[in-house]
Amino acid sequence: MSESSTPEAVISMRAGTAALGGRPVLRGVDLTVRRGEVVALLGANGSGKSTAVRSVIGQVPLTGGGVELFGTPLRRFRQWARVGYVPQRTTAAGGVPATIHEVVSSGRLSRTKLRLPRGADREAVDRAIELVGLTDRAKDSVDALSGGQHQRVLIARALAAAPELLIMDEPMAGVDLASQEILAATLRAQVAAGTTVLLVLHELGPLEPLIDRAVVLRDGCVLHDGPPPKAVGQHALPGHDHVHPHAASEPVRTGLLS
Ligand SMILES: Nc1ncnc2c1ncn2[C@@H]1O[C@H](COP(=O)(O)OP(=O)(O)OP(=O)(O)O)[C@@H](O)[C@H]1O
Ligand SMILES: [Mg+2]
Repeated sequence: MSESSTPEAVISMRAGTAALGGRPVLRGVDLTVRRGEVVALLGANGSGKSTAVRSVIGQVPLTGGGVELFGTPLRRFRQWARVGYVPQRTTAAGGVPATIHEVVSSGRLSRTKLRLPRGADREAVDRAIELVGLTDRAKDSVDALSGGQHQRVLIARALAAAPELLIMDEPMAGVDLASQEILAATLRAQVAAGTTVLLVLHELGPLEPLIDRAVVLRDGCVLHDGPPPKAVGQHALPGHDHVHPHAASEPVRTGLLS
């Protein structure tokens, strides 16, 4: 791609630093995601991936450096309907039972806050539920769902807002194979439609063909920013340094991550 045709940055974090519980967690992170790109944020447990994406959307304040979304400094950014966010799943359930339709509808809140929902909102909700294959169950309580189905609901909620930028924190973690395939297909459709995507992943897995670039964190620093590393599984990631035998037929490591 020539210099002049480089698309604009949708996410731009410069020298981001953040601390949690008095401990530095991000230590000067540069993270750029350009329009139309699909970027994977990789790294071992505790390397700062979730903190980085939470800083991008303002849930964790930076102590240094800065973030721009769509070219606007975060503190002045108000166009949240342009951003979809699926947080990392926690095991904690609880809360009031809601139906799939209700949860997905909440994804349109940023668009409906100042007016009544319109037909377009209901259509967007129905379409998002259909994309993740849960139309038959739209009126069911989300409590009755498997982990993978629940994750599909959260992704449908993000998609209902028709975001230009989709940020997902480990969307495949703890998700059954059938749901993983549906998620991969859903993501493929979003990417084909031009959505910009930042994905936190433990390993590239079934999403690998979609990834344009990988940013690897280690201890709150960027270790790699470039082509997705080959054979990057949990085992190849920094922080996973147990000694154990590997089959001779194993793919060749790039050395980028060791
Ligand atoms: N609320 C918190 N208070 C104190 N420390 C925290 C808090 N949240 C996270 N941390 C610490 O910050 C570091 C980075 O956490 P973060 O969740 O960003 O990592 P991660 O790369 O997303 O890890 P994982 O792969 O487990 O999701 C970890 O050492 C974690 O223990
Ligand atoms: Mg995390």
